[in-house]
Amino acid sequence: MTTLTESPAWLALKNHRQTMVHSSLAQLFEGDPQRFQRLSLRLDGMLLDYSKNWLNDDTLHLLTGLARERGLGTQMHALFGGGRINNTENRAVLHTALRGERATLVDGVDVMPEVRATLERMQLFSSGIRDGSISAQGGSRYSDVVHIGIGGSHLGPMLATHALSPYADGGPRVHFVSNIDMAALQRTLAPLNPATTLVIVVSKTFTTSETLANARSVREWLSNAIGKDAVLQLVAVTANPQRAAEFGVSEDRIFPFWDWVGGRYSLWSAVGLPIALAIGMDGFRDMLRGAHAMDRHFHDAPFEKNMPVVLALLGIWYNNFFDAASHAVLPYDESLSLLPAFLQQLDMESCGKSVRADGSAVDGETGMIIWGAAGTDAQHSFFQLLHQGTRLVPADFIAVCQPHHTAEQHHAILMANFFAQTAALMNGAPLADSPHDRFPGNRPSNSLLLERLTPYSFGQLLALYEHKVFVQSVIWGINAFDQPGVELGKRLASRILPDLHNNAPVSGYDASTNGLIDFYKAHREAPARTERPQ
Ligand code: F6P
Repeated sequence: MTTLTESPAWLALKNHRQTMVHSSLAQLFEGDPQRFQRLSLRLDGMLLDYSKNWLNDDTLHLLTGLARERGLGTQMHALFGGGRINNTENRAVLHTALRGERATLVDGVDVMPEVRATLERMQLFSSGIRDGSISAQGGSRYSDVVHIGIGGSHLGPMLATHALSPYADGGPRVHFVSNIDMAALQRTLAPLNPATTLVIVVSKTFTTSETLANARSVREWLSNAIGKDAVLQLVAVTANPQRAAEFGVSEDRIFPFWDWVGGRYSLWSAVGLPIALAIGMDGFRDMLRGAHAMDRHFHDAPFEKNMPVVLALLGIWYNNFFDAASHAVLPYDESLSLLPAFLQQLDMESCGKSVRADGSAVDGETGMIIWGAAGTDAQHSFFQLLHQGTRLVPADFIAVCQPHHTAEQHHAILMANFFAQTAALMNGAPLADSPHDRFPGNRPSNSLLLERLTPYSFGQLLALYEHKVFVQSVIWGINAFDQPGVELGKRLASRILPDLHNNAPVSGYDASTNGLIDFYKAHREAPARTERPQ
C-alpha cells in the first residue's frame, strides 16, 4: 500500500479541497433544496444531520474511496471477527461481543458463554442488592455504592449512571471516586454510612496505583466502622482475579472481564456493574441492545449511509485537509454533560499516536483534541471563539426531543438555542456594519437528535463514537487500542515517590524537576501564610 498522503485517494481529496474552499455552506444549500434530506441519516429514533458540512457528493465519494483504499472493510471484518488488531499487545478487541449475540472466536474458543455467564451473575447480584435480598451486615439494605476506578474503569460507568439517572427507581445511590487526591474520597465518604455502603473496586490490571490506594483507604474506612466483616462489603471487577483475591475480596464477589476488552471500551462488561445497580439489569441489557443495533448498522450499512463512517470521514476531512486541530462535543442535555470527558479518553487515548501500527512514523496529523461542555452553559463561555475566533472548530451538537421532565418551556428554550447555534455558525452575519458585529459564518457542524435518552439510545450513541474512532484509526493506520503514552509518567511517579518520604534535597532529575521537588519539601510543613504579600 502507498503511504497515506501519497495515495491516489488522498491526492484526489487534496485536489478536490481546492474547489471546495470556493463554495460556502450557504451556497451549497442554495444549490440543493434536498440537501438536508440527502445528507442526513436515521437509525431507530436517532437522526444525524451532517448537511452543514463542507462537502458535496464528490467529497463523500472521495472520502469513502479513501476508506476503501485504506482497507476499512477488511479491518471491520477483523474487529468483529476477533482478529488480534491490537497488535502491540497481541490482543483481540471484542467490545462488540459484549453486546453481541453470535458466537465469536478468539483462538478458536467462543467467548460468548463466558460473556453470558457474567451477565447472568450481574443480573443475580444487582437484583439482589436492589431488592434487599443481598443485604449489608445486620440485614440492612445497601443504601450506597462507592465505585473506585480510574480512566476506562471510571469514565464510562460514571457517564452512564449520570445519563440514565431517570431510570434509577429504587436502586442504591452510586458514587464515583477516581482521583488519588484524598479530598475526593473524603468528600464522597463523609455523608455515607459505612454499615450500608457497598464498595466496588474496578481495575482491569488491579495494579493501578491510584485505584489501589483509594481502595485501601476505603477498606480501612469500612473496617474502622464494622471490623473484620468489612471485606464482605467489597466487590471487585477485574481481569486479574488473583490480585483482587489477595486484596481480600471473596471469590464470589469478583466479576471478571478479559484482556480482549480495552479499558475505555469496558462499560459493556462487568465494569458496568454500577450501572446495573443504579438502573437495574433490564436497563443495562437495553443499553447493550442499543449498542448492538449501532454495531449492526456499522457492520451492514454502505459507507455512504453509515453514521460512524461518515462522522469519521468528516473528522479526517477537517483535520487533515483543513488543519482543524480540535473538535467540540456540545450536548444540549444535562444528562449528557459528562459525555465530552468520556469522549476525550475514548478518542484521544485511542488516536493520540505518532506511529502507525507497524511502528513507522505517521504522515500527517492524527487524533484531534476533543473538548466541549453542556449547552447552553457553554454558549456563555467559549462560544464566542466558535463564532468569531480565527480557528476552525468543527462541532457535534447533540440534543434530545423528549426530556424526562415535563417543564415544556425550559425544554423549548433549550432546543431553540440548540437549533439557533448551528444555524448561526453556518449563516453568520457577514454584512453587519461594524467589524465587531460581523460573523463570518460558514462554520461546519453535525447535529445529532435523539427522540428520547433511553438506555437503548444511550448505547447507540456511545457505540457510534466508538466506531467513529475506530474508522479514523484505520485511515491513519494506527493502533487505536493501546496507550503506551500514559506509561512514562506513571513510571517516573513511582521513582519520585520514595524521594518525597524524606527532607533531603534531590539531584536525580532535571534542574526544573529537582527545584520543584525541593520547593515542595521545604514548604509542605510550613505554617499557612496569613500575611499579605509585600
Ligand atoms: O492510564 C490509562 C489507563 O491505562 C487506561 O487506559 C485504563 O482505562 C486506566 O488506566 C485504568 O486501568 P485499570 O483498569 O487497569 O486500573
